[in-house]
Amino acid sequence: MAMQASCFIAAFRSSSLAEHSDFLEVCHLLLYGDLPNAQEKLAFEKGVTNHTMLHEQVNFLFRGFRRDAHPMALMVGVVGALSAFYPDSSDVEDAQQRMIASYRLIAKMPTIAAMAHKWSLGQPFVYPRNDLGYAENFLHMMFAVPCEPYHVNPILARAMDLILILHADHEQNASTSTVRLAGSSGANPFACISAGIACLWGPAHGGANEAVLEMLEEIDSFDRIPEFIERAKDKDDPFRLMGFGHRVYKNYDPRAKIMRETCHQVLDELGVRDEPLLKIAMELEKIALDDAYFVERSLYPNVDFYSGIILRAMGIPRGLFTAVFAVARTIGWISQWSEMHTDPSQKIGRPRQVYTGATQYEYVPLDQRS
Ligand code: CMC
Repeated sequence: MAMQASCFIAAFRSSSLAEHSDFLEVCHLLLYGDLPNAQEKLAFEKGVTNHTMLHEQVNFLFRGFRRDAHPMALMVGVVGALSAFYPDSSDVEDAQQRMIASYRLIAKMPTIAAMAHKWSLGQPFVYPRNDLGYAENFLHMMFAVPCEPYHVNPILARAMDLILILHADHEQNASTSTVRLAGSSGANPFACISAGIACLWGPAHGGANEAVLEMLEEIDSFDRIPEFIERAKDKDDPFRLMGFGHRVYKNYDPRAKIMRETCHQVLDELGVRDEPLLKIAMELEKIALDDAYFVERSLYPNVDFYSGIILRAMGIPRGLFTAVFAVARTIGWISQWSEMHTDPSQKIGRPRQVYTGATQYEYVPLDQRS
């Protein structure tokens, strides 16, 4: 499959984007193939912020969900339901409609994720504020309440922006391929992105940073760290240190380096370095960076190790981690979906299968079946 979208990210060192850019610039890069100039940047930001609110009717959709539902269940349902609000986006051959759908999705995903959070808490929804930056507005919608002012901490906003940049796109991962396959039939983009969210939800994909927190909770106390390190090294034990190692990055993942610095900044800023779970995380990091087993195998902490800790320190519940990932990955999904529709050789997807069953069956009437 020929593609450009994810290659733009690869062509830049992700660390240079993370250091110098912001999430909306990265969205522009993926959608248009280049970073915006000053004028384009302003126009793009304005275009996206014009779409941050949801149709008021969507609020009623939330009322149909249980308060204890997993946020990803709400995301799958609500994003899929947007196809009922934007039938114009079903004209997938129209480049302008595709771009409008892309802006709508980038703009509305943080609103939906924040609403899923507020719904689980039983707090009123907080409307977007278009005078705030993308990550700032996301934090505002997540944490503000109507009864008192809420000021977004700029260090936390920058950390959230970094998490979004570093999760924006990653070649043909399972959820991106799912979006492409769903879109190959010409389906409405909101329905396709909902399929991608469903795929991302699984623990083998978007759930790695959630798994890091589960592991830290399982370790539970400082004294038990050596026991878990030994388990991770034991070939007869399936346990692995979650948040360590990477299939592609066999040297230190440049994204993780940036995430590590940000993680330490966030912990200092919030004064939570001594929180037991985070202390365990910092000790694990120290051991892994020194221990011969991990060093020899290049098993460095990966981006999900740090993003899980940052999100936890910010006060984002574990169940919402994958929803934050979905907010970030939406730009990767929609730009690859859009690119697919510009390809004149694009056809409906049809993965091949190898059938290994019997070549012939006789129909047996019901009363004669064993
Ligand atoms: N803890 C302990 N040992 C490990 C770990 C780990 N987390 N990861 C790999 N190893 C060992 C493995 O046992 C093997 O040892 P040996 O050579 O003695 O047999 C060696 O390191 C190489 O492992 P591998 O399985 O061949 O490495 P891989 O590239 O196939 O796996 C991985 C990469 C990410 C699946 C794996 O490192 C892992 O399971 N990590 C934990 C889960 C995790 O953090 N996942 C998030 C990845 S980042 C997501 C993203 O960027 O999108």
